[in-house]
Amino acid sequence: MNTNYELFLCTTLLVLVFLPCYRADPDPLQDFCIADPKSGITVNGFACKAARAAQSSDFFSSALRKGGSTDNPNGSNATRMDVTVFPGLNTLGVSMNRVDFEEGGINPPHVHPRASEVGYVAEGILYVGILSTENKLYSKILKAGESFVMPRGLLHFQYNMGPGKATQFVSFDSQKPGIAFAPQTLFGSKPEIPTEILAKAFRVDADIIEYIKSKFQDDCSSGVEAA
Ligand SMILES: *[C@@H]1O[C@H](CO)[C@@H](O)[C@H](O)[C@H]1NC(C)=O
Ligand SMILES: *[C@@H]1O[C@H](CO)[C@@H](O)[C@H](O)[C@H]1NC(C)=O
Repeated sequence: MNTNYELFLCTTLLVLVFLPCYRADPDPLQDFCIADPKSGITVNGFACKAARAAQSSDFFSSALRKGGSTDNPNGSNATRMDVTVFPGLNTLGVSMNRVDFEEGGINPPHVHPRASEVGYVAEGILYVGILSTENKLYSKILKAGESFVMPRGLLHFQYNMGPGKATQFVSFDSQKPGIAFAPQTLFGSKPEIPTEILAKAFRVDADIIEYIKSKFQDDCSSGVEAA
């Protein structure tokens, strides 16, 4: 082994050792920890049910077999498979969603505070984009079989350009990535952000803000953990 190679190996190892600060969820401390959602104990994640009580079915989910109805203003529906619907994911740092789009449907601009996401298009044609903190848009038109990665915390969106329906399967490096939709968070929070603040921030008159707010009053689903 020559010294350059050893140096390279050592540096790589060092980088790998320090990589954990870039990971999303913490490492598990046992083989598995099937969530016990009924436990009154509050921890970072969910308490485990006793390991000896685990069954094959705890490692199984059919949550993504079918997509949800897209008959809504977004023309899309995100079906979750995070730890809240699949207790076996607890402490493992992974989860998935399925997003179904009708033609012209969008998954509005949103962020996942706790996870990076990699999304695979199973059907249809999606225009996807991410925005960096430099306000640069990175976008791509994806066909079936193609994927795009959404780095943790960056604003992103998907749009079904058509023709026809589209379906995307996305995975996260978190058991519960969390989601904040920009439109809902800003214009449909409870209690509301004062209109004068939004008017100043968006550089428009208050009545324009009130008008947009009126579109998000009955749709307070930002707490729903979707794609
Ligand atoms: C998403 O799909 C589910 C299952 O079909 C449905 O219950 C839910 O109402 C849909 N959400 C919206 C907002 O359309
Ligand atoms: C539709 O988008 C809004 C944000 O614009 C979001 O709050 C809502 O949850 C979305 N509905 C679905 C079904 O994804």
